[in-house]
Amino acid sequence: MAQIVTVTNQKGGVGKSTIGVNIAIALKELGKKVLLIDVDGQGNSSATVSRDARINQRPGGSECVFYADKPIEPTSTPLGIDLLHGHTGLENVDREVKAEEAAKLKNRLSELDYDFIIIDTPPSLGVRQLSALMWADYAVIPTKASSLDVQGTASTIRVIRSLEKMGLQIKWKIIVNMFVNTSKQQNTMLDSLRQNFPNNFVPIPLGQRVGVSDSLAIGKPVWEYNNIPREVADSWRSLPNTLGLI
Ligand SMILES: Nc1ncnc2c1ncn2[C@@H]1O[C@H](COP(=O)(O)OP(=O)(O)O)[C@@H](O)[C@H]1O
Ligand SMILES: [Mg+2]
Repeated sequence: MAQIVTVTNQKGGVGKSTIGVNIAIALKELGKKVLLIDVDGQGNSSATVSRDARINQRPGGSECVFYADKPIEPTSTPLGIDLLHGHTGLENVDREVKAEEAAKLKNRLSELDYDFIIIDTPPSLGVRQLSALMWADYAVIPTKASSLDVQGTASTIRVIRSLEKMGLQIKWKIIVNMFVNTSKQQNTMLDSLRQNFPNNFVPIPLGQRVGVSDSLAIGKPVWEYNNIPREVADSWRSLPNTLGLI
């Protein structure tokens, strides 16, 4: 059975795509068979792993996961992970599909021949984000340590808690990204997150680093980027472990 890991937050720009792609590659390097499903119309993670900047203009891709009658046909990528890409036409899904119906399609995904399925989501709570949470064995919630970003995170956690009340079992973790450790405000926010979510909080944040965005631009994981400090490389490469996925 494939383990489904949904990377989500109702806030944009917190590092969902960046973290999703790096987790996918890290798992692949650990010998796991990985499928990345990008259900965001921007297709950022799809562009990164396929090396095709215009991939989000192409129909097909991840659409199939929302419709029982559409065959699931992932493509391979130069990074060694398979992909169901995101594209602008996915907006139709939000109009045509009900999340409760899509939720029933989880088994179709878990029965695919993969060890891990990583789902990258759009920032708004529509059918795609909600379905991806309903399918999740694990939810990874990246956030920045600022009050606006934490508000988005809190909404996402409320959704997860309501799904848990409906009987879904989701293991979830919040991870702070783009942390600036010289900022007093960010340190205060980090402490408050740690206190509020003691069991669901990754204690060591991922720092703000130019190399992180630059590595994605050339289709590499953070740890393969030239001159990236060893401890930064290690913190990204060990994400599957830190997040309790393996
Ligand atoms: N730790 C980091 N340090 C520096 N830049 C980062 C870091 N994490 C993400 N970024 C950059 O921030 C921007 C937003 O990240 P992205 O993963 O696209 O967020 P989201 O998918 O949540 O919208 C991107 O340009 C990305 O390269
Ligand atoms: Mg994104």
